Amino acid sequence: RQEGGRRVFDLTATAGERRLKSGRATTTWGFDRGHLGPTLRATRGETVLVNVRNDLPETTTVHWHGMHLPAAMDGGPHQPIRSGETWSPTWKIDQPAATLWYHPHPHGRTAHHVYRGMAGLFIVDEPAASAARLPSRYGVDDVPVIVQDVNLDDDNQLDEGYSRIADVGILGDTLLVNGTVGPYFTVTTERVRLRLVNASPARVYNFGLSDDRPFALVGTDGGLLPAPHTTERVQLSPGERAEIVVTARQGERIVLRSYPPALGLDPINSRITGGDDRFDVLELRAADQLSPSPEPAATLADPPRLGVDATAPATRRFELAGTTQINGLAMDMNRIDFGVVRGTTEVWDVISPFPKPHNFHVHGTQFQVLSVNGVAPPPELAGWKDTVYTTPEVPMRLAVRFSEYADRNVPFMYHCHLLLHEDKGMMGQFVVT
Ligand code: C2O
Ligand code: CU
Ligand code: CU
Repeated sequence: RQEGGRRVFDLTATAGERRLKSGRATTTWGFDRGHLGPTLRATRGETVLVNVRNDLPETTTVHWHGMHLPAAMDGGPHQPIRSGETWSPTWKIDQPAATLWYHPHPHGRTAHHVYRGMAGLFIVDEPAASAARLPSRYGVDDVPVIVQDVNLDDDNQLDEGYSRIADVGILGDTLLVNGTVGPYFTVTTERVRLRLVNASPARVYNFGLSDDRPFALVGTDGGLLPAPHTTERVQLSPGERAEIVVTARQGERIVLRSYPPALGLDPINSRITGGDDRFDVLELRAADQLSPSPEPAATLADPPRLGVDATAPATRRFELAGTTQINGLAMDMNRIDFGVVRGTTEVWDVISPFPKPHNFHVHGTQFQVLSVNGVAPPPELAGWKDTVYTTPEVPMRLAVRFSEYADRNVPFMYHCHLLLHEDKGMMGQFVVT
């Protein structure tokens, strides 16, 4: 809806009932009749306004994961929406075309809210991205694939229990794609673009096709890669996204699967945190006649080039040890960990020394991976990122550019996106001044 020069969206957080399998319906939460949320979409240069009404019985928030915006619009733990209230953030979209997403972020409760189904896509478009020649008819050859894992009890209700030994949070045995168990998609074009979103609380997926055919990885968290990367696997930890283009042959059936992910842990820790697990994610059923699709362009986007500011502090170091702290401190809503200067770029070193899986996400920005274990990043980390898996003992160096929006009173978050860890305090906050 257009109103006063702005694109306006209305979201209402409510509980709902969802028939996931035979038997009783499952009680869920969400923004679209009580499960997941509508795909929001806006073009670079537009100003958006979102009215978020909370009809849930408790306080929530809605965070725009991956979005460049003022901290007061970010929807983190400092922008609570109490039951019965409406929050109306507004900002100007100014970043490359990308697959972003939105989800709640109430401090200490994020895992519960997301697990119950509160998540949706926010697609940023940009006219310049059409030169990439990617499939872009939404629902026809450009398909959202929001992946979540749940455990259903004997009565089909969501089981929120998790192993205290693994201590990563809920690992489900039932996969949902866009809220559906056992989904398939009818492919009618030679090429189909899948926008993969890991919206799970803890599980790392390693996506590939059932016949191991290569596909093109064309986009990561914050935008298109400089060039398509032909690969057979793409691994996503919680919060990460990837856009892939799959080439289909007429009449065939292929399955998008998740293969055992490379977590970089010892065998026992790997097994208890999902490192041996496999799933069928989405069946692709190709029609007997496929309409032609162009091949993606050889150059998709400009590579990120962030010059580190001479005035920036040497490096900041973030150590993700245990499951509740960063640099030895648990999140405190009243403690600002540091301040950065607006529009500058800093070098951040992230290290996860203890044999637990973690990842690292920064709000309000897209960053560039400068190195992994001291060497140039692999092709899948060559584009804009906002969340990276931090393999234990493998240091990552990031170039992080901060927003142009200064606000010394409202912080942005950085945290582990395994939602149990985030909720337990593996999170910190910084302000842009
Ligand atoms: Cu997607 Cu602070 O999170
Ligand atoms: Cu975020
Ligand atoms: Cu973690």
